[in-house]
Amino acid sequence: MDSARQCVKVEKEDGISWVWLNRPEKKNAMSPQLHLEMDETLAELETDPETKVVIVAGAGGNFSAGQDLKEYFRGLDQNPAGAKRIREASNRWRWGRLYMYDKPTISMVEGYCAGGAFTQLLATDFAVAADDAVFSLSEVNWGIIPGGVVAKVVADSVLYRHGLYYACLGEAFDGKEATRIGLTNFSVPKEQLREKTVELAKKLMAKSPAVLRATKQAMRMVRTMDIQQAGDYLANRSLALKASDPNKSYETGLSQFLDKKSFKPFFEPFKKEG
Ligand code: COA
Repeated sequence: MDSARQCVKVEKEDGISWVWLNRPEKKNAMSPQLHLEMDETLAELETDPETKVVIVAGAGGNFSAGQDLKEYFRGLDQNPAGAKRIREASNRWRWGRLYMYDKPTISMVEGYCAGGAFTQLLATDFAVAADDAVFSLSEVNWGIIPGGVVAKVVADSVLYRHGLYYACLGEAFDGKEATRIGLTNFSVPKEQLREKTVELAKKLMAKSPAVLRATKQAMRMVRTMDIQQAGDYLANRSLALKASDPNKSYETGLSQFLDKKSFKPFFEPFKKEG
């Protein structure tokens, strides 16, 4: 991992890689350099054997104040070639990479989460917020629309009327409201945020990695398929999983339930073998 990176910090602990947006003095507003560094960092961690789960968070108590209005917008306005390159990196890490990431991903949100930061928030598999986190689709107040892919991912993910309401009004809302509208999975008092996020990461790490990967990617892929395409895709993905799972999870699960009687799936994952 490249320790020369300025705008991204990585901490590894017990299988979890914490990826911190690291411009705390700018509330982690996303500059061109941050986008390039995040893109490289996530690509590296995706194949890093020590990394079982990635948690995306913001250093200094704020998730992210969105795109950097000075460096990302004004700074690139007169530089179309640079703007294209940076926009590609920005959309790649915040959506393309994270959406189909080979490992489970969680956003941990405290403090401000604004505008463009909704993209990585919704691209990660799960999101946990502090009750008092402050969310805002603030674009309407800047004279711009929720661009990049923000309008699309919000419309696809949160309860529709609420998405429309917050996009059109730009009003701030807290972590409890974010959960009510489907933007985050749950919120907790701020002092429990790290502990509850780690708890979720540990539950994910107890699952078979191959089965978890296939499950999350299948859930995402079927969203844009019709029922026949989905049935066909899922049948093939199931076969591919059985053939390639190093833990032989299917055989292991059945044998622990039917033969050894050592496991019931409602209550716990099977014990990984192999
Ligand atoms: N782009 C560029 N700079 C930003 C920024 C952004 N999105 N968000 C914060 N900053 C900068 C501030 O300009 C300030 O820089 P300075 O110290 O050089 O003056 C620094 O970060 C600290 O922010 P400040 O506004 O002083 O902190 P605050 O606690 O009073 O307010 C926010 C925090 C997040 C409420 C406020 O900064 C804000 O509204 N930011 C814009 C958020 C937004 O709408 N983002 C979406 C962009 S599409």
